Amino acid sequence: MKNSTRFSTLLLDWNRNSNDRQMPWKGERDPYLVWLSEIILQQTRVEQGLPYFLRFKEAYPTLHDLADAPEDDVMRLWQGLGYYSRARNLHHTAKHIAYELKGEFPSTYHDIVKLKGIGPYTAAAISSFIFGERQAVVDGNVIRVLARVYGIELPFDTTDGRKHFSHLAQELISAEHPGEYNQAIMDFGATVCTPLNPKCEECPFSKVCVAYQKNLISELPVKSKKIVKKERYFYYLVLKNDKEIIISKRSGDDIWKGLYILPYIESDKPIRKNIAQRLSEYLGQKVSVAGYSKPYSQQLTHQSHQSVFIFVEGVDLQNVHIDGAMRVPLDKLSTFGFPKTVYLFLVENSLL
Ligand code: ADE
Repeated sequence: MKNSTRFSTLLLDWNRNSNDRQMPWKGERDPYLVWLSEIILQQTRVEQGLPYFLRFKEAYPTLHDLADAPEDDVMRLWQGLGYYSRARNLHHTAKHIAYELKGEFPSTYHDIVKLKGIGPYTAAAISSFIFGERQAVVDGNVIRVLARVYGIELPFDTTDGRKHFSHLAQELISAEHPGEYNQAIMDFGATVCTPLNPKCEECPFSKVCVAYQKNLISELPVKSKKIVKKERYFYYLVLKNDKEIIISKRSGDDIWKGLYILPYIESDKPIRKNIAQRLSEYLGQKVSVAGYSKPYSQQLTHQSHQSVFIFVEGVDLQNVHIDGAMRVPLDKLSTFGFPKTVYLFLVENSLL
């Protein structure tokens, strides 16, 4: 399809006649709430993100409410959603806008994209939805739609591929209705032009779609690299008595920064031998192992985590000197935010 106006006309017609996807941030005029929804939806499915959006909106109805919230509260509300740097950056940028920009949300793509935690996709979404700027969103959904309709075989995860898809997306976006167009292409990719079993029978592009016409639907889009995941093995230590347990706050610059966890030993392969001895060395006191939890596995984009919780016996809690460790009453555990695996373990073992 040569004519770019035709692409956007077909897409907008589909949006007006056939798209019945309801979402609470659609039509929202407050840039803060649109920003919040877009950050929550990064690498997250709408069904998973929706309850978080509603909870955040309820807890922090305005940008100032979020800016003035304690970091621990924000992190706890984010608990379970993953990619926690999103929550830390959200909070940081809320403070920046509230106090350094005097509460004024930047109104151009150029200024929005400079904010910490906001990349080209989110800046394009906010600037088009709220300020009517003609900036095309480009993410996995958009790439899939364009690769199929235009039969693009260039791998999208290369410098040339990225450039090609961004240029094409920017060429195609409607000049009159850029916000509606962006929301429409997101919805179209998520509901019609899906990765598996796309609904080609009801697709407005089927007559012109190169992938459909040439039977290349399952071949497109093309990716050049396969992600090699790093395997990590975590041995968390359950150091508790009847009243207290030891937790520690993550301070290092990693995926869990700002959250609380149980102390752990990490390895790049399973530890099979002498675990009690390793624990005793780590804790600086002689302890034994009373038992193990079931294994917990978690898959992130670039990492695969296998975790086991070790019930430690004979530990003197007052003499545990691990970086960042703190003794907290068991009945106060629910005031802390934990990563998903630790949270699940605590709930399944009636500690939360
Ligand atoms: N994913 C990211 N942003 C979105 C939006 N505004 N609507 C639906 N899915 C999205």
